[in-house]
Amino acid sequence: MTKSATSKSAINPVGITPLSHGTPKILMCPPDYFALEYAINPWMENTAPLDRDLARRQWDTLYQAISQEAGVLVIEPVEGLPDLVFTANAAFIYGQEAIIAHYKHPERRGEEPHCAQWFKASGFNVTLPPNDIFFEGAGDALIWQDRIFAGYKTRTDIRSHTLLSEVTGLPVLSLELINPNFYHIDVCLCPLEDGHFIYSPEAFNEYGNLVIEANVPERKRIAVSPEEAAQFACNAINIGRRVIFNQGSNRLSEALFERGFNVTQIDLSEFLKSGGSAKCLSLRVA
Ligand code: ARG
Repeated sequence: MTKSATSKSAINPVGITPLSHGTPKILMCPPDYFALEYAINPWMENTAPLDRDLARRQWDTLYQAISQEAGVLVIEPVEGLPDLVFTANAAFIYGQEAIIAHYKHPERRGEEPHCAQWFKASGFNVTLPPNDIFFEGAGDALIWQDRIFAGYKTRTDIRSHTLLSEVTGLPVLSLELINPNFYHIDVCLCPLEDGHFIYSPEAFNEYGNLVIEANVPERKRIAVSPEEAAQFACNAINIGRRVIFNQGSNRLSEALFERGFNVTQIDLSEFLKSGGSAKCLSLRVA
């Protein structure tokens, strides 16, 4: 990536990069205003200060890794919205449909109009959740095969799952998130394009595990250890045969190699301090 790729001058008004048909597209937001200004999840309660220069370098490395596999679109960062960098939450995308997030915490609600505007300007059909129903975008709703696995309770309201189903026509499997550290479903579950399914069984209750086991064949399930889950192993980006996640999860890497995947591990330590990692920093929009 050239230096200008993440500078403001590279961001056009709607953030659209001309891309050839069929190229996967990922939305990211540069970490210009990334900070720890409040604590809305347990990871943010740590006292280690943020190294902002390191965060920028880590983000640039992720940007480059994703650029090898997909076109990267950029939404303009906004001062005072430190978590806008986690574009996975901006919306849930299904074809041209975008269901915009409505955050549980007021701290993040300023992101909503900015993202709605971006998706409108980029040609998506935008749906806003009703005011009393919280929904945190692709952070809490993931498509696997012909169905959606959606998390609820910690952030997203289960009532939004009806909306997900109405907009997409897909069945939604609602999974309660029981561990405060795994407050979005994308930090404990990751569907892969070929039907494989990475997850942390400990993040779900017995019934949730039953739902997963009843839907995903055993040979497709890759359960990660609690230690690797705590390193955000499940917060992975999958594009084709490439899987990108935070550094350090070697057992998961091995399991993926055995199944014919290529793995890229990237140190994302500064974003972990905010409770996010590779997948949280990206949103597949095409
Ligand atoms: N600090 C952010 C929050 O608590 C992190 C969001 C992580 N995003 C995700 N898709 N899991 O909301």
